[in-house]
Amino acid sequence: MRILSRVALLSLTTAAAHAATVVYDFNVSWITANPDGLAERPVIGINNQWPPPRIHVQVGDRLIVNLHNSLGDEDTSLHFHGLFMNGSNHMDGPVMVTQCPIPPGASFTYNFTVDQPGTYWYHSHNKGQYPDGFRGPLVIHDPKAPFEYDEELVLTVSDWYHDRMSLLQPRFMSKYNPTGAEPVPKSALMNDTQNLTMPMVPDRTYLFRIANIGAFAGQYIWVEDHTITVVEMDGVYVHPTETNMVYVAAAQRCSFLLTAKKETSRNFPIIASMDTTLFDTIPPGLNTNVTSYLLYNPTAPLPLPTPLDTLTPLDDTLLLPQDNLTTLPSPDQTITLNVTMNNLASGANYAFFNDITYVPPRVPTLYTVLSSPNSSSSQGDLTTNPSIYGTYTHPFILSHNSIVQLVLNNLDSGRHPFHLHGHQFQILHRSAADEGTWSSSSSTPDPNNSNHTAAPMRRDTLVVEPNGNAVIRFQADNPGVWLFHCHIEWHMISGLAVTFIEAPSVLQQTINLPEDHLAACRDREDPIPFEGNAAGRGGDSKDLSQWLVLDGQPTPPKPIPAGFTGGGIAALTMSCFTGILGVAVVAWYGFSEPVGESNTAAAAGKVKSPAVAGESGSESGVYTDVDSAGKSASVVRVKRGTEAVESEALSFGSEEEAVNGVGMASKKGDGVVVDVDAITRA
Ligand code: C2O
Repeated sequence: MRILSRVALLSLTTAAAHAATVVYDFNVSWITANPDGLAERPVIGINNQWPPPRIHVQVGDRLIVNLHNSLGDEDTSLHFHGLFMNGSNHMDGPVMVTQCPIPPGASFTYNFTVDQPGTYWYHSHNKGQYPDGFRGPLVIHDPKAPFEYDEELVLTVSDWYHDRMSLLQPRFMSKYNPTGAEPVPKSALMNDTQNLTMPMVPDRTYLFRIANIGAFAGQYIWVEDHTITVVEMDGVYVHPTETNMVYVAAAQRCSFLLTAKKETSRNFPIIASMDTTLFDTIPPGLNTNVTSYLLYNPTAPLPLPTPLDTLTPLDDTLLLPQDNLTTLPSPDQTITLNVTMNNLASGANYAFFNDITYVPPRVPTLYTVLSSPNSSSSQGDLTTNPSIYGTYTHPFILSHNSIVQLVLNNLDSGRHPFHLHGHQFQILHRSAADEGTWSSSSSTPDPNNSNHTAAPMRRDTLVVEPNGNAVIRFQADNPGVWLFHCHIEWHMISGLAVTFIEAPSVLQQTINLPEDHLAACRDREDPIPFEGNAAGRGGDSKDLSQWLVLDGQPTPPKPIPAGFTGGGIAALTMSCFTGILGVAVVAWYGFSEPVGESNTAAAAGKVKSPAVAGESGSESGVYTDVDSAGKSASVVRVKRGTEAVESEALSFGSEEEAVNGVGMASKKGDGVVVDVDAITRA
C-alpha cells in the first residue's frame, strides 16, 4: 500500500464526517519486469515500480489520482472498474467514450468520491493496453461491512503475456489470423508473482479479496483442504455462502472468508487455474495454473497441488445479495444483443453485437452529449437522438430512472464475461451452455430458480456461456455514457461493445469538463475535436443541421461480399497478393499433399498444431499448418463428421510471420483435436 498522502479534510456536511481525500500520484512509464521467471519484458510501471500500487480508500472518501504519462510512445487513460461515478462520468476513463487519450508528456487528474464498498480494480482503458501491466486492485473499505474477520489479504490473479500488446494486437487483428484465435497467455500470476507464501496465524479468520485483473482467462480458484465462505462479489455483499471453489472471470472480483486451521504442521496450496476452454490451443509446456501457499509452518515443505479431475465452482447466480433487494419492476425498455464473430473484408475476425462491431467515434461520446443542441436550441433536442452518436459506437439512449432489461444471446462458441460500466445489474436468468437464445415465451425469468425472482444476484460482470443466454436488468439511475462490453481484452479490440447514453439532458446540466481533460484532446499532434457528433461535425459550425450529418464517421472494414465465405475472400486476397509478389502458393484444398507429412513446419517442430491434448478424430475445429519453407499455410475448418467445410491458403513474408500468424490461428470452435488423417480423407 503506497498512499502518498492521505489528507483529512474538514467536512462540510455531517454525512461526510469521516470522509478523507486520498491522493495518489501515478507517473506512468515503461520499465522491465519478469514476474513468471520466464521472460524479462517491458511493463507499464507506476512511479518506476511494478507491480503497480494498490489503491485503498474508505467508503465516502474522495479519491484523486494525478496521472502523468511518461510512456513516451503510447497514449493512456485510467478506468476504475465497477465504480458508479455518479455525477462524475467524465472520470470513468474509457478512451473516446468519456475522455480523449492522454498523450505522452501530459497530465490528467481523476477526481471523484467513492460511495460504494468492496473490491474493485483500476486499469488503463486505452484500447488493449492494460495487459502490459497497467492494472491493480482498488479496495474500498467499509467499517460497516456485514461480516467479521481478523485480517484481510488482497490477492490478484492474472494471465500474463511475454510480448507487448503493440506487437500482439496487429497479429491478432490480421488476415493471417482469420479465425480470430486469441493469443494464449504464457503463464498465470497471483499478486503478479508465483509461489507466493502467505503466513497464517492459527484460528485467525482472513478476508481474501480476489480480483481477476487479467486480459483473457477466467480462473478457477480453490484452497486445498479448506472451505471458503463467499461474502462479496463485484462489490455486492452476499449472504455468506460456503463453497470449495469459485470461478472468477476476467474483471470479476470475489471476497471470501477463510479461517486458518488450529493445527500448524503442514502448508496448503491455494491454486488459480486458467479456464483453458477459452484457449484455441494449449501450447506444450504451458503451465495453466499458478500456486500460492497458506504458510502454517515455514520449515515444512510446500506441497505440489493435487490435480483435480473436475472443476465445479460455485454458481454465482445462486448467491443472494445481503440487502435482499427484490427484482426490479418490469422493464420500460428491453434491448436484445446477439453476439457473433465474423470476418470482414480486411480478412481479420471481428466481434459483433447485432451485426455491429464497435469503432470509436471522432469525438468522445460524452463530449458529443455535452456539446449537442438541446431542447433550448432552434434545432430541437438532439441529445436523445441516437444518430448523432454514430452507427459504430452502437448507441442506445436510456431515459432517466427507467428500468432496462438486456437479453444477451451468445451465438459464439466461447464464454464471454460481459461488463456494464456505472451499474450493478440483477441477473434474472442465465442458461447453461448450448441452450441457444432466450425465449421470451418463458415470461418469468428463470422459472427453474425461485431465488432469482425473489432477490436476484447483482454484479457488474457476468459470464455468459457458449451458445447460451442471459437476462439482466438495471435501473438507469446514473446519468452518463456507459460502455457495455466483453471484458476479454481481445474482444474489446475486435469490437464487442455497445454504448449506453443514459439521461443525456441531465448529464449536460451536471458535468463540467476540467481544463486538463480538454487539453488531452487539444494539445497533441493530431488534435481530437471535443465538440460535435461522432463524425466531428456540428461542434464548430453555426449550421446546426450539420449535427445530423455523419459523413466521415469512423467505420469498420466492409463486409465480405455476398457469396464469398471468410475463407474464400481471404484466399482471394492472398492470390492477388501472391500474384503481385510472384511467390508461389499452393492452395490446399483436397488436392495437395496430406497435411502432417514431413513437409510441414509442424512436423519440423516450428509450429505445434493442433496442440490440444486428448481426443482425435471427428471433432469440429480449425486445423492449420505451415509449409517447409514456412511461407505458406493452410487453414481448414472441419465440422463434426470430418467434413472439411472451408479451407484457405495463406502466404507470409517471412518464416517468423508464418509461425506467429499461424501459431495463433489454430483450432477455433467447440471442437478439440482435429485428426490429421481425417482431414486428409475429407
Ligand atoms: Cu474494466 Cu470497460 O472495463
